[in-house]
Amino acid sequence: MSSPWSQERYVRAYMFAAHAHHEQLVPGTVLPYIVHISLVSMEIMAALSHEPDPDGDLAIQCALLHDVLEDTLVSYAELEHTFGKAVAQGVQALSKNSALPKATRMADSLMRIKQQPLAVWKVKLADRITNLQSPPATWSATKIGQYRDEAEQIFAALHTASPYLACRLRQRIARYGSSSP
Ligand code: NI
Repeated sequence: MSSPWSQERYVRAYMFAAHAHHEQLVPGTVLPYIVHISLVSMEIMAALSHEPDPDGDLAIQCALLHDVLEDTLVSYAELEHTFGKAVAQGVQALSKNSALPKATRMADSLMRIKQQPLAVWKVKLADRITNLQSPPATWSATKIGQYRDEAEQIFAALHTASPYLACRLRQRIARYGSSSP
């Protein structure tokens, strides 16, 4: 039986992301940023084992590369040259447009994600599942509430892409910011 995604492509995209993010840390921690990337791709692998997707490779590569345009010096042209157009377009949709006012960036990104294959929608769900672990100790209740509201916005826009990831996100939203584990 063939795998729903290629280990070779995974290693290539993982190493590219590890180099691109090499000096960054997960915000509020001492952990290298590749930890975040690894957890997002793990959510995608779990989803692919429950829900077959013909675009498994696209989902995995976009998961590994989802922050390289927004957070590193990697350009769209380099991404397209190295990984092809579908991956570059998916990552671009997952990147916020810094030229827009901050309050509109998420809605704009969600609109562009919805023009992409469902594989790309899944990466956004996986990213927010990963980011809904315990909020940083420095965050106020208001900020935690805003982050939860934004997660609801992501859920509403994209949940139909994957019942499996939608269920995971729903559980994380319910627990987010409460003191119970
Ligand atoms: Ni992310």
